[in-house]
Amino acid sequence: MKSYELRNKFLSFYEKKDHEIVNSSSLIPDDESVLFTTAGMQQFKPFYVQGDSPYGTRTVSAQKCFRTSDIEEVGDQDHLTFFEMLGNFSFGDYFKKEAILWAQEFLIEELGFDREKLVYTYFEGNEEIPEDKKAKKILLDSGISKKKIYPLGREENFWGPTGTEGPCGPTVEIHYVLKDEGCGPDCDPSCDCDKFIEIWNLVFNQFYMNEDKSLKPLKHQGIDTGMGLERLAMIVQEKSHVFETDLFTPLKNKIDSLTNKNVDQRPKRIIADHIKGSVFLISEGVTPSNTERGYILRRLLRRSMRYRKLLDLPENSLEEVAEVVFEIYDDFYLESADKKKVYKVIEKEREKFEKALDKGLKEFRKVTEDGSLDGRKAFHLYSTYGFPVEMIQELCDEKEISFSKEGFEKAKKEHIKVSKKGAEKKFGGVSKDPEEEELKLHTATHLLHEALRRVLGDHVKQEGSDINPKRLRFDFSHHKSMTDEEIKEVEDLVNRKIEEGLQKKIEEMSYDEAIEVGALSFFEKEKYPEKVKVYSFVTDDGKVFSKELCGGPHVENTGQLGKFTIKKEKSSSKGVRRIKAVLK
Ligand code: SER
Repeated sequence: MKSYELRNKFLSFYEKKDHEIVNSSSLIPDDESVLFTTAGMQQFKPFYVQGDSPYGTRTVSAQKCFRTSDIEEVGDQDHLTFFEMLGNFSFGDYFKKEAILWAQEFLIEELGFDREKLVYTYFEGNEEIPEDKKAKKILLDSGISKKKIYPLGREENFWGPTGTEGPCGPTVEIHYVLKDEGCGPDCDPSCDCDKFIEIWNLVFNQFYMNEDKSLKPLKHQGIDTGMGLERLAMIVQEKSHVFETDLFTPLKNKIDSLTNKNVDQRPKRIIADHIKGSVFLISEGVTPSNTERGYILRRLLRRSMRYRKLLDLPENSLEEVAEVVFEIYDDFYLESADKKKVYKVIEKEREKFEKALDKGLKEFRKVTEDGSLDGRKAFHLYSTYGFPVEMIQELCDEKEISFSKEGFEKAKKEHIKVSKKGAEKKFGGVSKDPEEEELKLHTATHLLHEALRRVLGDHVKQEGSDINPKRLRFDFSHHKSMTDEEIKEVEDLVNRKIEEGLQKKIEEMSYDEAIEVGALSFFEKEKYPEKVKVYSFVTDDGKVFSKELCGGPHVENTGQLGKFTIKKEKSSSKGVRRIKAVLK
C-alpha cells in the first residue's frame, strides 16, 4: 500500500466516524512559545480549553510536522526532522474507549495488522497523578492479553503540553513488535534495542498545565492522537527503514544516481531528510539566518552541503534533490509552493557557505592533528566558519577525534560574557551619562513593548514613545486598565529578559522583508526608507525575544539595563494606555 493510500484511508476511516477532515496547518504555528508545529493537535489547542471548535467536536487530519529534538539521530532507522502525523481528535466528545477501540479497528481491520504484533503501554501513575486504570481496563476488555500491556511512567506515558502551557494528559501508546527477541527479559517498549517501534500515541487530554507546571482539570477533556505516517508506511510496506518507504526512495534513488561513491547509507539519508525539511521550511517563508527558525534551516542546509562534498555530488545536486521532494508532495502539501524560490534560497546559502566550508575543513584538519579538539578551537570553527555544532561533532566522530561538547558550550558562554563585559565598559554600568541612560531606556522600551504583547495580547501596538534620561513613557493600544497582576507580570518578564542578558542584533533589509521576518513596525510602509534596520534581542541559544523596526541606537546587551520598574499605568486617550517606567 502506497503512503498516499494510507493517508487517505486514515482520513476516510475517521470521516466515516463523523470526524471533519481538517487541512494541515502551517509548520509555523500561531503559538509564539514554540518554533514549529510538532504535533497535529497544535492547531486545535484552544478547542480543549474553550470548546468553540468551528469544525465540530471531532476532527481528523494529516499534519505536516517538524521536530528538532531528534536532529542528531536522523539517519538511523526511524528518526526524521520533517514528518507527517495522522491524528483524530475529540473536544469534549468521545474519550478513552472509542479512541482505543477505533485505533485497533483501523490497524487490524482496515490495514490488516497482525493483532499479535501489537503491544500497548499506559500510564502507571505517580505521586501527582493516579494510575490510568480506565485505560488499562479498556485494553484488557478488548481482549488484549495482560503480557502485551505495559504500565510505564510519566516520561513515556504522559504527553504535553506543546509550548509552555496547554492541554496534556496520560496516554496509551501502541507499539509494533519488529523482532521476536529483545535485549533481555526486562525489555519493554521504552527500550531502544529496536525490538519495538512506537506507531501511535493516544493522548487523553484531561489536564491543563500552567506555565508553572501545575495541573488543573481541563474544561473540555478530549482525545488527541498522533501516528507517524512514515513509520506506518515502513511497517505496512515491510521495510526495515523509513528511508526505504515510498516517501523516501525517490530521494535516495536521485542521490544514488548522482554519486559513484559507495559509502554507507547514513549521509544519503541525512541529505534526504534535511533537504525535504528545508523544502518545507523555505516553502513556508523561512530563510537561512543565525536565529530561531532561520538557524534551524541553515543547519539543515549546511550539513547537507558537507555531505554533498563527502559524496562528491555535483554542485547543484541539492536543488535536484529538492525537485524530487516536490514530486513526492505535489498533490498533498506542496501544490502551490514556489519551486524557483526554494532552489534560489538553497543556491544562495551554498554560495555563502561552501567557501567557508573548505577553509573551515582545512582549519579543522590543522587544529586536530593531535587527535583532539578543545572547546575553544571548536568554537572558532563555529564562529568563524559557520560550522553548526553537530557538524563539528560528526567531523570528530568520523576521524575518531575526541571532542567535548561541554567545552564548546563553555567557550561559547565565555565569548558572550566577554562581549557583554566589553559592552558594559563601553556604555558604562555606573556612570549616569544622560545619553547612556536614554540608550538603556530605549532598549527597555522594546522589551516592554514585547512583554505587553505577550501578557496582554497581540492587539498591543505602540502608539507613542518618549524618553528622557530619567524615565520612559510608552503609549499603547489596549482597551482597559491593566490589573496589578498584569503590571507585575510585565515587569517580571522584562526583568527576566534583562537578567538573561539578551544580545543586540541589527539587520538591514527591505521593509517587506522585515515584516516577513515578523518585525514590529508602527507606521505605514511609505514612512520608512528603502532599507530599514531591524533590532532584535536574542538569547545565547538564538531565541529572539523582541524584534522591531527601529533607527536605534540601543545597548549591546540587555544585561546592562538594571532593574525595570513600572511607576504608573493610566489612560492616555480612548483605547490607549500610558506607562511610565524607570531603570534603577
Ligand atoms: N500530541 C501527541 C503527539 O505528538 C499525539 O498526537 O505525540
